[in-house]
This record gives sequence, C-alpha cells and structure tokens, in this order.
Amino acid sequence: MFEFVDKVLRFGEGKKLKQIAGLVSVVAELEPETQRLSDEALRGKTVEFRDRIAQGETLDELLPEAFAAVREAARRATGMRPFDVQVMGAMALHQGAIAEMKTGEGKTLVATLPVYLNALLGRGVHVVTVNDYLASRDAEWMGPVYEFMGLTVAALQNNMSSEDRRAAYAADVTYGTNTEFGFDYLRDNMALALDHRVQRGHYYCIVDEVDSILVDEARTPLIISGPGEHAAKTYYDFARVARQLKARVVVGSGDASGDGGGYDYEVDEKKKTVAISEEGLARVEHLLGVDNLYEDQGGQLVNHLMQALRAQGLFKRDVDYLLQDGEVKIIDEFTGRILEGRRYSEGAPSGHRGQGGG
Ligand SMILES: Nc1ncnc2c1ncn2[C@@H]1O[C@H](COP(=O)(O)OP(=O)(O)OP(=O)(O)O)[C@@H](O)[C@H]1O
Ligand SMILES: [Mg+2]
Repeated sequence: MFEFVDKVLRFGEGKKLKQIAGLVSVVAELEPETQRLSDEALRGKTVEFRDRIAQGETLDELLPEAFAAVREAARRATGMRPFDVQVMGAMALHQGAIAEMKTGEGKTLVATLPVYLNALLGRGVHVVTVNDYLASRDAEWMGPVYEFMGLTVAALQNNMSSEDRRAAYAADVTYGTNTEFGFDYLRDNMALALDHRVQRGHYYCIVDEVDSILVDEARTPLIISGPGEHAAKTYYDFARVARQLKARVVVGSGDASGDGGGYDYEVDEKKKTVAISEEGLARVEHLLGVDNLYEDQGGQLVNHLMQALRAQGLFKRDVDYLLQDGEVKIIDEFTGRILEGRRYSEGAPSGHRGQGGG
C-alpha cells in the first residue's frame, strides 16, 4: 500500500531524473574545452552569454555552457569542482524544484550554478539563508566564484542602513535572511518616495533550509509597526498587580468561564493565551482602585491588563527574552539568537514578531 502511494507521489520523477542526467553529461562534455580557456576568456563568457540573451537565447538553452563555466570558475577560485550530483541538484533548483540534499553535501556550492545562470539577466538574484551569520559567510565563501565570472555579490545584515541595503540589492547576487528580505519588502511598501525603496524587484531566489523557512518560520508573520512609546507608569502598575495574581496553567483547552476556582487568571501555554476570571478581575480593580476596568474609554486598561498577564504568565526571562543594557531583547525561538531591533507588537508580548522604527 505504502509502496503504491510512494509510486504515485513520485510519478514522473524517473523521467525528470533522466532528463537532468542527460544534461549533466552535456555539461561534462563541455569540461575539457572550458578548462583550456584562459582566466580572461572564461570571464568573457559572462559578456558572451549576456549578448546571446539579448539576441533572444533562453536561460534553458544557455544552461549547459553556463554550468560548465561556473564549474571551472569554482575550481579555479575555490579549489572545489562541483560533482555531477551537485550539478544535478543545481538543475533541479533552476527548474524551480526543491532539491533534498543531506547535510554536508555541499548545498552552498550547488546554489552558485543556478544563481549565476539567473543573474545573467541582470535583474538581481536573492539567496535566502537562515541567519545573518550564514548570509555573510556564504557571500564571502562563494563570492570568489561570482567575482571570477565578473558578477558582484553582497550580503544583507540586520544592522544595515538603507544606503547599504540599497547597495546590497544593486549587486548581481544578494545573500540575506528571509526576515531581512521580508522586512525590506514591507518597508519598501511604506516608502513615501520611489527612490526611498531599497529593493529593485523580485525576479529569482534560492532558499536554503527551505523546510525551516517555508514551514517553521512561516508560522510567525512579519509585522511592521511604528516607534515604541516610552514605558508609562501604567505599565509598572499593571505589572505589579499581575505579579500578585494567582495563575492556573492549562494546556490546549483554556476555558476561563468557570469562576470561583481559586485562581485569578488562566494561562494556556500551548495556545499562548491568557484569560482573566471574574474573581481575578475584581481583585485587579480592588488593587488598582478602579471601579470598572471595562468602563475605560478605548479599552486601554483592559489591554494593559491582558498584556501584563501575558508577560507574567507566558514569557520567561532568558528563554523568550533577555535584558541587556536595560533593554528587552527578543530571543529567536528557532535559533536562540538575539533578534536585534525587534520588539513585540501591541507594546507587549504577543504571538507575532514585529520590527520597530518602520
Ligand atoms: N565539490 C566539492 N569539492 C570539494 N569539497 C566540497 C565540494 N562541495 C562541497 N564541499 C565541501 O563540503 C563541505 C560542506 O559544504 P556545505 O556547508 O555547503 O554543505 P551543506 O550541504 O550546506 O550542509 P548543511 O546542511 O550542514 O548546511 C564544505 O567543507 C565544502 O567545502
Ligand atoms: Mg548549508
């Protein structure tokens, strides 16, 4: 049964694999003559390919020659000659497919082949990595290959100015994290003048660790927000009150309707929600000296209470966030690294990732 399902899912795969294997041998046949080219003649291939594109040749038609050129450039610039299986993976990527390659199989090098081919159009190619460190490492590591072929490379970093970002996007190849590309896209959409934008379009990109980025990371949306307000006295008042309340922790089936259970609020760690009980509400009103929290115009006080309860019940110091120089720094739940410049939305913790200063 499973075998049958597997076969259905992989329908057509054999045919595609055959087609790719055929192309690999064409690339291999071109190797001896490519090896005979001088460095200058090899670099000259980029100009030649671009001319041929201008004459109407397609990327698919150029693929074997372009891949042969990059293979040779990689060998000369880094000492690594892409293996046939790596060339196969590169072809799958060019076709827009997901290539599953195990750890250590050399995905960083594989990417240079389709990146070079698609960068020939001059519209900018993006390579998406999981963190800033890998963005700069990969750009530096693979940079010599592109530069050998006369292309420019750059890496985005979290702390970059708009000018530096614009310059990075102007390069033929731009490495960066999905969050940087995402926030730049959002900010560009809020730009008041066209020349304030940093990106120059989205033509082609390759995503490293695609399962992590398109499945895990995609669960938390990117939200852009205005500059944060200064912590007001209200925050401290509510934080003080929240500390005095009794929490009841539930998992997955939060229901705060039951009163008199001897708790003030409920924390659902799985759904990441909090709910106050009647009893708890009365205590809060008593502690703050307020008659009716819900009578406040605009619901500001209720919002303050909810955020204070979430901060108290759901967010743990040195796990979800840490304090550095008197500032709250959010810890990325996937990588454990500090997310610089990032803060929680709604002025307090929430399930979203926000970035201030937009
Ligand atoms: N064609 C090659 N010739 C020689 N060495 C290679 C070649 N391709 C890759 N390597 C080496 O293999 C190692 C792993 O490469 P890389 O980090 O790109 O793997 P990866 O597939 O991205 O792994 P991970 O999943 O851990 O990120 C590197 O040290 C690299 O130098
Ligand atoms: Mg890798």
